[in-house]
Amino acid sequence: MLYTSDDNSGAVKVLQFLKAHKEEYLSGEDLSEVLKISRVAIWKHIKKIQNLGYKIESKQNLGYKLIDITDLALPWEITDGLKTKAIGKKIYYFDSIGSTQAFASNMASDPLESGSVIMAGVQTAGKGRLGRKWVSPKGGIWLSVILRPEFDVSKITLVPLAASVALASSIQKALGVKTELRWPNDVTSNGKKVAGMIIDATIESSKIESIVLGIGINYKVSPSEIERKIASSGNFYGVATLIRDNNAPKPAKFIQLFLEELERILESLNGGRTQSIITQWTKRSSTIGKHVSISTQDGKVSGTAVKIDSDGGLIVKHGKDHTKIAVGDIIQR
Ligand code: BTN
Repeated sequence: MLYTSDDNSGAVKVLQFLKAHKEEYLSGEDLSEVLKISRVAIWKHIKKIQNLGYKIESKQNLGYKLIDITDLALPWEITDGLKTKAIGKKIYYFDSIGSTQAFASNMASDPLESGSVIMAGVQTAGKGRLGRKWVSPKGGIWLSVILRPEFDVSKITLVPLAASVALASSIQKALGVKTELRWPNDVTSNGKKVAGMIIDATIESSKIESIVLGIGINYKVSPSEIERKIASSGNFYGVATLIRDNNAPKPAKFIQLFLEELERILESLNGGRTQSIITQWTKRSSTIGKHVSISTQDGKVSGTAVKIDSDGGLIVKHGKDHTKIAVGDIIQR
């Protein structure tokens, strides 16, 4: 099933009305009259809204009252109050899909989809970095954002770094959890992975046509269930979940904040303020200053991670030499 932010179906209209009258019971008759929908249809919409995870109390002679919103990150919950210019103006949410990244990549060439966000409750063929699979069960946030940036192709590695800074900052603001950034694209909590990023870009004569930024967040998942499925894959260092209790913010509100932070930092990148992004990333980094071993296409490099250079590469010092690593898997101590 696909839901979109343009969805103005009867169920969403009923929901909006219930939200606007949160303290009251609304009778089926009143809803039917105001919304100009038959009473049978109102009843069906209420059932649908309940099936989407909203808690609606229904009392004889009084009617319906919205008690709590859903735990699903449905598009209209994210766009309601979203303060961005382009990112997330259009949101597509699939109950289940192979990969949001694959779906977004297919529509990234359409200029009208610039800023669109594709999300899923579950992914059955989630894509990780370096050709790995990404386990994407219910409870996680699996999303891809279509971007059409103005900066030069040499800055492309900075996109996931910038997105990691935006994510770490949103996690801290919304959930009060302090995370670390691990080169190149991971967000960790006490050293275990809570989120990862991937980018797929279309480049035409050294100009970026579009970028699909894919972000997987272990929002409220079972780490052991994921670990069981990936423990044997390369560069495994443990999985963590951001949320363990039931009183945490709804994922939709968290995603809203993240999309706002993401747009702000990407504007900074578009405006050429790369050093500020690198400084922010370095402040949160668990990699810089550590002894690292990195497998690259040209072999293994071991030494001390000293800094991120102006286009996002990691500079590793070994003896008197420095090597710049653009892509790779890292083991850090
Ligand atoms: C990594 O290997 O660390 C990157 C993981 C990226 C996973 C996300 S989930 C949403 C989007 N869709 C995918 O298939 N992959 C990315």
